[in-house]
Amino acid sequence: LYEGGVPTGTGTSSTSAAGTPVESTSSPPAGSTRPTRPVGNPFKDATFYVNPSYQTSLTGSIQTSEGGVKATLQSMMDVPSAYWLDKRDKIFGSSTDSMEGILADAAAKAVPELVVFIVYDLPNRDCHAKASNGELCCSYKADGRCDYLDVGDGKCTAGLKQYAEEYIDKIAEVLRKYAGRVPVVLVIEPDSLPNLSTNQADPRCGNDATKSAYQDGVSYAVKALAAADPSAAIYLDAGHGGWLGWKDNMKDFVQTIKGLDVSEHLRGFASNVAGYQHVGEVCPTYDFCLNNAHPDHPCCSDPCGLTSQWNPSHNELQYALHLRKAMREGIPGFKPHMIIDTGRNGVAGMRSDCANWCNIRGAGVGFVATTDTAKPSVVDAYFWLKTPGESDGCSETLPDGGSCPRFDEDCASEDSLGFRSQEPRAPEAGQWFDYQIKPVSYTHLRAHET
Ligand code: BGC
Repeated sequence: LYEGGVPTGTGTSSTSAAGTPVESTSSPPAGSTRPTRPVGNPFKDATFYVNPSYQTSLTGSIQTSEGGVKATLQSMMDVPSAYWLDKRDKIFGSSTDSMEGILADAAAKAVPELVVFIVYDLPNRDCHAKASNGELCCSYKADGRCDYLDVGDGKCTAGLKQYAEEYIDKIAEVLRKYAGRVPVVLVIEPDSLPNLSTNQADPRCGNDATKSAYQDGVSYAVKALAAADPSAAIYLDAGHGGWLGWKDNMKDFVQTIKGLDVSEHLRGFASNVAGYQHVGEVCPTYDFCLNNAHPDHPCCSDPCGLTSQWNPSHNELQYALHLRKAMREGIPGFKPHMIIDTGRNGVAGMRSDCANWCNIRGAGVGFVATTDTAKPSVVDAYFWLKTPGESDGCSETLPDGGSCPRFDEDCASEDSLGFRSQEPRAPEAGQWFDYQIKPVSYTHLRAHET
């Protein structure tokens, strides 16, 4: 933890009114409202909230299945997963289809349960793909969708104002109501900062408007949400090992994070969100598998052939360790922890091309939520962040025969469900698509041994 040039080590720990341990690095000046942040793994010893809206979706699928598939789906009913705040209208409400309703429900449990939310509504969202383009824009086309190429004032001023006032400030309002009463984990804006590191050549990502939207938006979100609930644990999205694992990409990402000046508010990073990279095993050293060294060692299992391309982050555990090291070296005092999304990485090596990411056939769900990770000092939890059974994006033709408004060609990859003629078409990103988890050969529910 680094604050204003003062190294850590002089920090004090205390307990907040609600009993959550909090840490401050040095005594705040009188009258300061500087937030404190939680110490330790927020998932440890918590009971995880199971999302009723997920259970409702699953119930429908259970009713239309039988045998082994039915039994597997039934066993998924009690598995915790994150709730995506991917639209403004998911913030307020009394039902468990809203953030507010979920927190009310979690607060009413005998012991309030830990809720994981994904904050996901930046202006010009999903700049390098189309499937998850969002509702807020730096500049709007006549049809209400984003004009990614209109740079406007180059700062996305109007889009960021909307993001702050209509989205983040509203989330902050709800968080304040439950702060210290319900344990909350926030995962901030999947894909956004990683896109800034590697997709500058794409004019939709590399222009000044999108860059400001992502950098200023994420920075605002972290600061506002940390202030609203100082006991919330905040993780920024960090892509995955097959994306930022290369030394240069990681270096660039560290610089981006450093530039935001938010690390004091972070518990760490979430990796593999909606991704397919396998968890793998920890290797003895940094470059243990590089350039095809130790091919028979289990930790070198590398279905995407990354090590032969000088990427030592060929599995998510390795990525977690490398990212932590790079962050520690680049940002003094920062020791980030990780969550790995295991919602879609139950089966390694099922893609013909690891660049494919949309509704991958045969992926299977990975480890259910646990803090019993292979490297607990760094990896806080495996958790289903992207909801298994929800679509990554639509096929060109929707299940009802209409044409998909956010069609991305990657959703027509040969690895994507819906590509083969006998497979059903996929609905829009986030819609229920149980074909992904239903056919028994595609279902690999793996409970982590404790
Ligand atoms: C979609 C969101 C959805 C989330 C979880 C994302 O890819 O864009 O709308 O809520 O996945 O399924």
